[in-house]
Amino acid sequence: MTSAPPERAKRRRRARPKRLLKRLGSRRMRQQVYDLLDQGSDHPVGMVLQRVIIALIVISVAGSVLVTVPALDARFDDLFATIEFAAVVAFSVEYLARLWVAVEHPPYREMAPWRARLAYVFSAGALIDLVAIAPFYLELAGVIDLPALLVLRLLRFLKLARYSPGMRSLADAVQSERTALLSCLMFLIGLALISASFMQWAEHEAQPDKFGTVPDALYWAMITLSTVGYGDVVPITTMGKMVASLTAVFGIAMLALPVGILATSFAQVIQRRDFVVTWSMVARVPLFNELPAADIADIMRYLNSLSAEAGEVIVRKGDAAHSMYFIATGEVAVEVPGQPVRLGEGHFFGEIALLKRSKRSATVRAVSKTKLLVLDAADMQGLIERKPHIGEVIERVALQRISSEGIGKNGDLASKELRLDEDRDDGA
Ligand code: CMP
Repeated sequence: MTSAPPERAKRRRRARPKRLLKRLGSRRMRQQVYDLLDQGSDHPVGMVLQRVIIALIVISVAGSVLVTVPALDARFDDLFATIEFAAVVAFSVEYLARLWVAVEHPPYREMAPWRARLAYVFSAGALIDLVAIAPFYLELAGVIDLPALLVLRLLRFLKLARYSPGMRSLADAVQSERTALLSCLMFLIGLALISASFMQWAEHEAQPDKFGTVPDALYWAMITLSTVGYGDVVPITTMGKMVASLTAVFGIAMLALPVGILATSFAQVIQRRDFVVTWSMVARVPLFNELPAADIADIMRYLNSLSAEAGEVIVRKGDAAHSMYFIATGEVAVEVPGQPVRLGEGHFFGEIALLKRSKRSATVRAVSKTKLLVLDAADMQGLIERKPHIGEVIERVALQRISSEGIGKNGDLASKELRLDEDRDDGA
């Protein structure tokens, strides 16, 4: 009798590490699934997954459009049904997987899992994902008719926003300027009301069927202010024509305003995004990441990003040289006599021809998908003048590369020289 509680406690203690391991295992798996779904473009499997989802979105939207053509619907009925079924199954699995990994999203990480998932369910991305699958289940339950169903199905197109940085930037631009855009809308509504009232007063006797009431005149005002002008309702009195002229002029101004606001905001969002991307790439290059933030920001103005696919030639032996390259991610092979020299993340190349003002000394090819930061010749000169220790490292590496003794066993010439802080400590 007395031994039962200690036994139970022992069993519980033994079970604890197992439970912990199980929880850690599922957390790791959740993190991996999150990385695949959300950081897919940096991962080969994630990239394939993203492409499959994008293809499914495009095919299912095309199917939903073509199914409205009676001749095609009659002929390819089964095909359309199969596409729809496959898309819904895939999108449903994606929805559930995203819900599961919602806890890993940086903004929700501090929340309790149920709260994080609830917050995710009401996010714009999750609502669009839900709209992509909802019509199928609503139809299955018999609560929706076909035309409404088709409209909802076509909204799947919005799912592409997740995979298109351009669409995301546009959404960000609208979001950040929502107050100004809302003011424009209010102004437009006010203007439409004023011109409709004037028009109704000017035209209601001459054309009671078209301008008899303010709501009738409102239709004309909106079509005129938006500069569409169908021409199905036109003023015939002198006063009416004067009101119409003024309305048309205000219409042009009203359209230019939100377009201008949106264009400026869009450009700013793209600039901000490029800044963040370049910053994270610069931070991977040891030559730069020891610098204070202000210096990194200064250097970033001169660096452009470039991607190279596996096997692509980045510089070719004998070509004229205009820039040097820093490897942010990936790997390149320098085709020197004998074994090619491999250079990885944080290394640089293309400096010899710039320093010697000569042609390229070797061909450099990307071994895997590589992201590079490109520094033009003139900017490199400016950088060396402003940051002499960076210039010293670049020159030292170039000298070692030129002299054949400098080639290490594994060809990894630059790794020591790139450790700027060590160099400075040595020198002290
Ligand atoms: P550049 O001559 O401008 O273009 C080819 C680049 O390959 C060269 O600059 C160097 O950056 C790089 N390179 C040439 N030889 C070697 C080497 N032996 N080891 C590492 N990199 C090299």
